[in-house]
Amino acid sequence: MRRGVGHEGLNVINKSFQPTDCDGDDMPLPKWRKIRISAVLFCVITFTTLLSYTCWDPSLYFFKYVHFFNKGLCACRQCVTEPDDDPWFTERFNHSIRPLMTRDNSVLTDETFKWWQGLQSEGQPDKFSEVVEELFQVIPDEVFYMDAGPGRCRTCAVVGNSGNLKGSRYGNAIDSCDFIIRMNQARTTGFEEDVGTRTTHHVMYPESAIDLDNSISLVLIPFKTLDLQWIISALTTGTIEHTYVPVIPRIKANKDKVLIYSPTFFKYVYESWLEGHGRYPSTGFLSLLLALHICDQVSVFGFGADQYGNWHHYWEEDNHLAGAFRHTGVHDGDYEYNVTLLLADKHKIQMFKGR
Ligand SMILES: *[C@@H]1O[C@H](CO)[C@@H](O)[C@H](O)[C@H]1NC(C)=O
Ligand SMILES: *[C@@H]1O[C@H](CO)[C@@H](O)[C@H](O)[C@H]1NC(C)=O
Repeated sequence: MRRGVGHEGLNVINKSFQPTDCDGDDMPLPKWRKIRISAVLFCVITFTTLLSYTCWDPSLYFFKYVHFFNKGLCACRQCVTEPDDDPWFTERFNHSIRPLMTRDNSVLTDETFKWWQGLQSEGQPDKFSEVVEELFQVIPDEVFYMDAGPGRCRTCAVVGNSGNLKGSRYGNAIDSCDFIIRMNQARTTGFEEDVGTRTTHHVMYPESAIDLDNSISLVLIPFKTLDLQWIISALTTGTIEHTYVPVIPRIKANKDKVLIYSPTFFKYVYESWLEGHGRYPSTGFLSLLLALHICDQVSVFGFGADQYGNWHHYWEEDNHLAGAFRHTGVHDGDYEYNVTLLLADKHKIQMFKGR
């Protein structure tokens, strides 16, 4: 990533592109104005092509307001889905599978239910629909974020927990995104310069749960019916203290902002994107695919090993055991990373690998 394009750069562009200058004006322009506009367009395009984009990409303003130039399916310079998409991508990406659960899409096919139940088998799987009903009495039953269109440019940062964030100074780039998705035990205090300060979504499962600020959406990945019971309990009575390990009985989180990762989407990620590699996808990979489906532009931070090939968390000292999951067969970290790199190759995401 290049540095040096600070807020001054952004302001200059902003001034030349007040939305009122360019919006919906069908009047023929005087010639000098045409020339002037062409010159400015040329500068903006050259300028932004030279930059690798992050969320404060000045051209966002340009594409948001100059509709005649915007042939994409979103208002960003580059959208996750494009009209003329890469075949590798279209083969895998299925827009009609919604990533988050509502009452409406909570009914699972037998095949999906069986697959999902097999992830972490449990005693009495038959009460799933009852639990879902109870769940949506506690958390909102709404369809979120499915508002893609040529007028929307939602920029997202997916922030993994890799040690490659250490010393990266990505904090400002991360904080400038609309959505900032973190996961599991992620923390920002003490690491702001490298990982930023804001969080809009925090992806977790019961065994990795932590307390959240009121403004953050908790995104629960359920691996079993008990996980749905746990979130109900953790937001209300606090009676469930144990899944296959002890879990926190109560969680500090805004229950009006709790979202549930759909088991159908979970299976789709595993089958369509990992082609069945590993036992199931990692939280990082699941979060990345969530972002691909709800965002228009996705920047990925803190994925993969650090510069020495070690897998550890940015808040830990180098921990050689932290990479052990790569060899347990639960996640296929190498395959996931390959797919992630391919997405970057095809300009579906922008990877920030540390420096
Ligand atoms: C996408 O998912 C829907 C719903 O599961 C399914 O009916 C459809 O066949 C899928 N499309 C492709 C291209 O796989
Ligand atoms: C990842 O990609 C590399 C290079 O294309 C390949 O050699 C390797 O086998 C791939 N790894 C997996 C797990 O697919």
